[in-house]
Amino acid sequence: MSNHLFSEADHAELYQKYRPKWSSEFAEKVVTFVKEKKSSPLLHAVDIGCGSGQSSEILAPHFQHVLGIDVSEPQIAMASANNKLNNVEYRVAPAESIPVPDESVDLVMCLEAAHWFDMEKFNAEVDRVLVPGGCLAVAGTIEEKFSQDELTNISHEFLRQGPMKDCWHENLVRYLFTEYRTLPMPYDGVIRDESMSIETDLTIPQYVNLASTISPYREFCRRNPEDKGALLQNLQKSLYEATASTKPVEELIVHVMFPIFLLMVRKPQV
Ligand SMILES: C[S@@+](CC[C@H](N)C(=O)[O-])C[C@H]1O[C@@H](n2cnc3c(N)ncnc32)[C@H](O)[C@@H]1O
Repeated sequence: MSNHLFSEADHAELYQKYRPKWSSEFAEKVVTFVKEKKSSPLLHAVDIGCGSGQSSEILAPHFQHVLGIDVSEPQIAMASANNKLNNVEYRVAPAESIPVPDESVDLVMCLEAAHWFDMEKFNAEVDRVLVPGGCLAVAGTIEEKFSQDELTNISHEFLRQGPMKDCWHENLVRYLFTEYRTLPMPYDGVIRDESMSIETDLTIPQYVNLASTISPYREFCRRNPEDKGALLQNLQKSLYEATASTKPVEELIVHVMFPIFLLMVRKPQV
């Protein structure tokens, strides 16, 4: 696993500050699926690869207890420090060994994280921890879209074609580039939903900070320590010039959409 990509404290801080938030509409969609076969109150959810906690928080209104786990200590420290919800707790633990009893969880959720897991071990753990009729939901995003096509082209060029081209981990190529169509799931009957997106308004420097949180950029920095932010400065310059705006760069707001692919599946009832 490439856990070193998420293990730095500054990364957890950038993550907390700049990653766009998952919406309550997204949570409703997942919870509606869980409730199709469960009428009693929803008890336990586990958010795996919870990062700095943004994904776990959206489950809090729907479950009695939400546990967010992540292998990264700085991410869990950041999540715990910012946690204001008394039914959400965070723990350092791997997806391949989920720290909860057998058949105790109504929902296992993984947002922008499942592509890092050892899927064979993870799927066995999902089967162990889910109650019969409980659900697994995994979701990701890969190709953001700006409201201006030229900005979209610049960001795609930066992410996929430029100097970061070879810095995408093999798991990302294998699972994320296929929008999870190749991700092994533990049960048949997977439902795929592509109707939602994360929408956000950002300044260009904020978008660039967001780009600095993605793992291929972290890998690029590891391989090219002499870069010292030059690549990101070029990205900012190219995006700003493409807008042809006369506003100062830190005042110019751009609209960015991250289309979501969501996979949901249910453990068979016995
Ligand atoms: C891109 S972040 C997603 C964070 C959060 N779910 C969100 O959507 O904002 C991916 C997270 O997965 C975690 N991760 C990677 N491999 C893991 C594993 N095997 N078990 C648990 N967490 C893992 C990383 O430490 C990182 O915090």
